[in-house]
Amino acid sequence: MTITYFIDTYGCQMNVSDSETIRGLLNAAGFDECPSPESADAVLLISCAVREHAETRVLGRAAQLAGLRSHGRSRGPFMVLCGCVAQEHGSELLERTGLLDAVVGPDCYRDLPGILRERLRTAHTDRRTSDHYEDLPRVRSEFPRSFVTIMRGCDNWCSYCIVPSVRGPERSRESGRILTEVAGLSAAGYREITLLGQNVNSYRDGSTGFAGLLEAVARAADPAWIRFVTSHPRDLTRGVAEAMAGTGNICRQLHLPMQSGSDRVLAAMNRGYTSAQYMEKVAMLRELMPGIVLTTDIIAGFPGETQEEFDRTAGLLSEIGFDYAFLFRYSERRGTAAASMPGALPVEERLRRLHVLQDIQKRITLRRSAMLAGRNLRVLITGEARRPGQQAGRTMGNRMVILEGSSFSPGEFVDVTITRGDGWTHFGVPVGL
Ligand code: 5AD
Ligand code: SF4
Repeated sequence: MTITYFIDTYGCQMNVSDSETIRGLLNAAGFDECPSPESADAVLLISCAVREHAETRVLGRAAQLAGLRSHGRSRGPFMVLCGCVAQEHGSELLERTGLLDAVVGPDCYRDLPGILRERLRTAHTDRRTSDHYEDLPRVRSEFPRSFVTIMRGCDNWCSYCIVPSVRGPERSRESGRILTEVAGLSAAGYREITLLGQNVNSYRDGSTGFAGLLEAVARAADPAWIRFVTSHPRDLTRGVAEAMAGTGNICRQLHLPMQSGSDRVLAAMNRGYTSAQYMEKVAMLRELMPGIVLTTDIIAGFPGETQEEFDRTAGLLSEIGFDYAFLFRYSERRGTAAASMPGALPVEERLRRLHVLQDIQKRITLRRSAMLAGRNLRVLITGEARRPGQQAGRTMGNRMVILEGSSFSPGEFVDVTITRGDGWTHFGVPVGL
């Protein structure tokens, strides 16, 4: 009898990419994906451990799903936790929660078919490999958008971050394999390819660095659009910015996490740049690509952050004028350097600072979005919008655009006049209609 499985994914695009790998792996082994956890033999939760909130959410979901076991079924779904939380806590989770049957870290996904078939109560987290799961057919679910992992892991050890310990050291994929995958996606009609890595700017394969890879990828992908995340400000070079500026299908859009505007806090975070150096990178990007869409990440309430240091962050947030910002309150992650730093702020104070940043950014996001009204922008049609009769698409700047009453096919590029914007979502009509 075929074993059925259901996947629930949390966290960043790296986790979405992991879930595509797992689907490919399980389907190739003869398993069938099913649309709901209720009817599945196995439920896989792909977890994120970056912030406490994400971890709590995924464990809450595990508790909720475990309830399926008591609803008159002879045996409930076999529950597997994959991804970062699995790697972080390992076998401890099997004992602590009593909800999970197996815990499988990102380097051990090949063990999943055996574990599910045998319903093994086990934790597989100790292996560390350079396995990029190259041979596996990935099951992609976001046509015409796709993700291509170019590297795994991270060597930066930012003091607040758990990623280096759960995802392991940095390992770049061979450029030839990346180019083959990208060319295949473009030939299959994919029109947006996002290169993924924790720190794409330190990509290296022999003599090929990130700028070279980016140009080669753009050529292989043409006419598909290319994006990439995440860029570390320290490693973002002029060469990369020039590649972006000089290549028509590389999106003029960049996510450049600033984290803080205070030099003391940046040093305590082990970020490897000062606020002045960060500003220089922003100036370089804007000089080479006027109108580039910039987004960032900021952490409020890092241990020891004084009011003055926080004000500096808030000041830079206003001054730079990002199109969008992902704002977080600091959360302690066990085993990271920052977790044992003195000067922990009360959670209420971290939240207060977070709200100050949110207010500043909300105004900026709205203002920048309103400025687009009346402009013509090229939009990649991605599919149906939530409301019937509406279609959704993305601009090169990665802003969502909703079209009323159009019937384009996903993957088509359409020039659109923006009528209004309410932040990250915009509304528009095809040019000439
Ligand atoms: N607390 C709060 N935010 C964090 N991030 C990473 N670790 C933490 C933490 N411990 C944020 C950073 C990073 C983004 C992915 O998550 O801003 O860029
Ligand atoms: Fe974490 Fe820093 Fe690596 Fe990003 S660069 S994954 S924040 S350690």
